[in-house]
Amino acid sequence: MTSTAAAPSFEALLDRDDIVWMGQNTNHLEPLPEVVEALERSVARREFQVYAPAAGLSELRALIADDLGLPGLDVWVTDGAVAGLHHLCTALAPRVTQVVTSDPGWPWPVRFGALAGLPARVVSVYDEPTRLLQADRLAEVVEERSLLYLIDPLNPLGSSYTRAELEAIVEVARATSSYVVHDCTYRHFADDHTLAAELYPERTFTTYSFSKWLGLAGLRLGAVAATPELLAEVMAVPANPLGSSLVGQRAAVAGLRARDRWLPALRATNRANLRRVEELVAASGLGEVVVSPAQGNFLAVDLAGSGWGSDALCAALLEDGVFIRPGTYQSPLHGERFVKISTSVPPAWIERFADAWTARAGGPTR
Ligand SMILES: Cc1ncc(COP(=O)(O)O)c(C=O)c1O
Repeated sequence: MTSTAAAPSFEALLDRDDIVWMGQNTNHLEPLPEVVEALERSVARREFQVYAPAAGLSELRALIADDLGLPGLDVWVTDGAVAGLHHLCTALAPRVTQVVTSDPGWPWPVRFGALAGLPARVVSVYDEPTRLLQADRLAEVVEERSLLYLIDPLNPLGSSYTRAELEAIVEVARATSSYVVHDCTYRHFADDHTLAAELYPERTFTTYSFSKWLGLAGLRLGAVAATPELLAEVMAVPANPLGSSLVGQRAAVAGLRARDRWLPALRATNRANLRRVEELVAASGLGEVVVSPAQGNFLAVDLAGSGWGSDALCAALLEDGVFIRPGTYQSPLHGERFVKISTSVPPAWIERFADAWTARAGGPTR
């Protein structure tokens, strides 16, 4: 069986026990016992045999709104954040003229828009001082009724908007009656984070994920949040009328109940790992960290002058069982210039990465 290059499967890696998973920003830390217990309880009760409520469990929806800190928002639980993004791009397509986003970025919403006939304007931000799509660049490409897809913190660079930057962006959005889709998949790792929904509630959708902060990537659980009026506009015909995994939702509820205990430990481990990767990259002489301190559970390393392209370096590291990601997946414009390394992993994995990285520091011919 083959898969398309756009959606690589990595199935072969699942059969290997030696892989250090530092390529997809997934979370490989010891899970909360409450989360594991909730999963076991749900399986024991055979909840996999029933459908969940279409919008998700009421408690889960309330906990997500609470976690976002905007209790007035309504929440729809989706099959991962990506399914919410797919639904938003296709449901909004008849009302918008184009998708505007950044390169580097996350490629799927542009592709979802294209499926529904929407053109894309992609703004190059890799060489911008803030490594983000800012209001002045946005103003150059925006049209009436655009769909602005903002990833914040930005996968793959780790840059994140200040409140003032978001205020300037929503001013452009408001002036053009544009919709904002604020992808907050990595919000929990940021030192500080503002929700565009707070500044522009009338046309902002916030997308939320349990894959990264809680480590539930395999359970496929996320959400879309917006004001009740706005959410109702796009969820009249939802993508998941039979609900998202009930087993997964039980785990998510348990995780959110324990959030205040889990998050400080998670952030501390992630921060320490980010620092360690920065140190070892500097010591190796191979590459330079692009954004420091990165605000997600990953960082990007620029390879200029190393002799390596990103695809070749990632292939070389995979020979050592170290899975990191080339920029080419997330940046048609600059992808050969950088790689991305995920850091929500056990510190011992960082050391495996360190050995493999340092061994390649001499360049591709060594
Ligand atoms: C920016 C961004 N949005 C959405 C997703 C998808 O998240 P989920 O696993 O919740 O579908 C990812 C996953 O890597 C991502 O990087």
